[in-house]
Formats: sequence, structure tokens, C-alpha cells
Amino acid sequence: MSRILLLYASVEGQTQLIADRMAHTLREKGHSVEMLPADADPAQLDPAAYDGVIVGASIHYGHHPAYLLKLIPRLGKALTERPNAFFSVSLSAGGPRPKLYAAQRYLDKFQRKSGWRPQLTASFAGALKYSLYGPIKRRVMIVFMTLGGGETDTSRDYEYTDWDAVVRFAGEFAQLLKPAQ
Ligand SMILES: Cc1cc2nc3c(=O)[nH]c(=O)nc-3n(C[C@H](O)[C@H](O)[C@H](O)COP(=O)(O)O)c2cc1C
Repeated sequence: MSRILLLYASVEGQTQLIADRMAHTLREKGHSVEMLPADADPAQLDPAAYDGVIVGASIHYGHHPAYLLKLIPRLGKALTERPNAFFSVSLSAGGPRPKLYAAQRYLDKFQRKSGWRPQLTASFAGALKYSLYGPIKRRVMIVFMTLGGGETDTSRDYEYTDWDAVVRFAGEFAQLLKPAQ
């Protein structure tokens, strides 16, 4: 059994749901998983106490959260010396009009800016949660969706996450972990 730290940065909750599904998959494989929000007190985060680390974050206005870019260099070798993975969540990665080049650019930019080359990366499609947005965010998203060919009916939410891909990613991460002695 390996101990895994799963850090997530989520604004409207979809990245957290994806992290939940990964944690569930890894626990089914016999691993222990601790999920923590990536904006928790950095003093509480000690990757060295784990056998592997997964970090996930969503995109807003073209960026992963700035605090994550600061956190990664602080984790340093404790992150890179053990199996490590990063996943990005965005609407570019899926939905009715995916923009995969943009999703890849988010991943590339994150790696460049954080200085971290994760062993495993993925982009997952997120969700459009009109029910959670305040009036300004809702208007912004209607404009984005109108320009990008997305859903503009705000009477419901839309989830585009490919859950099979999420489970596969967790399985691939499990393959990076040392077999039990
Ligand atoms: C205000 C706002 C801005 C967003 N900007 C982008 C963007 O620039 N590119 C993109 O692909 N997705 C964008 N998204 C979509 C989010 O990445 C998507 O909703 C994701 O599921 C959010 O994950 P979270 O719930 O974990 O925060 C945006 C969403 C919101 C609400």
C-alpha cells in the first residue's frame, strides 16, 4: 500500500469532484489517499510524508491559480523525487466545441512557469455551472460561450468530464508507485 497526497485547486468544485474520483479509484487499488486543498497552509503540506503526489487545478481566465505556481517550487525535490502527476481542468479540454490546443497550452504554460515537469499529465474537461455563478460571472460565461460555441441556456448546468479518462489516469498513476515490498 502506498500513501498518496492529492492536492486540488478548485473554484466551482469540479476539480475537487475529479480528485474525489481519483482518490476512490486509488483506494480501491488498496492505497491510502489524503486529499487537501492546494491553498491549505503550506506548512501543513509535506510531500516527503507520502509515496506519491498528484496535483490538480482548474483554469479561470486562461490561468491556473497563481498561488499554485508559488507552491510548487516550495515543495521542491520532495515533489519530484517521488511519483508525481498533474492534471488541469478546463472547458477547452472538452464540451461541445473543445479547443485542445488551448488545453495543451495551459499545461505547457503551467510546467514552464512552475518549473515542474510532472511524470504524468492530463487535461480533463470540466463543467459549466451556471447555478453556482453570481450575476457577473454568469454574464461573462454567456459571452465566452457565445463566442466559443458553448451552451448559453443558463437554466441548467453542464458537465463534460470524461470519468473513464479520470479513472484511467488514476490507474496510470498507480503504475508509477513502487510495488508493495
Ligand atoms: C469565470 C470563469 C472563467 C473561465 N475561464 C476559462 C478559460 O479561460 N479557459 C477554459 O478553458 N475554461 C475556463 N473556464 C472553465 C473552467 O475551467 C471550468 O468551469 C472548470 O470546470 C472549473 O473547475 P473548478 O470547478 O474546479 O474550478 C472558466 C470558468 C469560469 C467560471
